[in-house]
Amino acid sequence: MSAIPSLPAIQEARLHELRSQKQRPRETRESADPILGLAELTRHLDAFEGPIGLDDLRQLMARLQLSDDELQTFTLFDACNYRRNQIRRTEDYELVLICWRPGQASPIHDHAGCACVFRVLEGTGEETVYVPESDEPGASVSYRPAATSCHAGGALCASFDADIHKVSNPGPHNLCTLHVYSPPLLEMRTYDEHCPPVS
Ligand SMILES: [Fe+2]
Repeated sequence: MSAIPSLPAIQEARLHELRSQKQRPRETRESADPILGLAELTRHLDAFEGPIGLDDLRQLMARLQLSDDELQTFTLFDACNYRRNQIRRTEDYELVLICWRPGQASPIHDHAGCACVFRVLEGTGEETVYVPESDEPGASVSYRPAATSCHAGGALCASFDADIHKVSNPGPHNLCTLHVYSPPLLEMRTYDEHCPPVS
């Protein structure tokens, strides 16, 4: 089965993004003021009516300023795998702190109709972006790594819907990344390198 999203799915995702742009709160459109802390960030996110577009998520996360200990209760690691620590989830968005020990990595995955922005809070993350090996219609699609980049503290990364990537902690230090998904990421497809989706 081809892993390329159907045209209706892409159109629906774009419509969803356009709808969310119309529903931006006035304050978010016009302000570049810092957002001081998690409570203020969730107040901004809650002010949207419906899912939030990628540009708005990026802008909000860029303005965020956190105190050193604000995420302490969510900073939890797992010895075997990266750990997702949910901070808040509503119908329209999910805020998650992901904690990575050195060497831990996500699967290769897409974003299943979601906009996702994450910000590196501590450590250095590595992101590898994947693209289809072939765009021939009807072909069984496999994927290859197209670019790898490192993101240090403060960096923002954004993904939308069919974007395919893998995030990892190359080490040697722990990595913490704050992610916001809109709508919440309920189901993402995962991939093996050079193979069609595995789920
Ligand atoms: Fe992702």
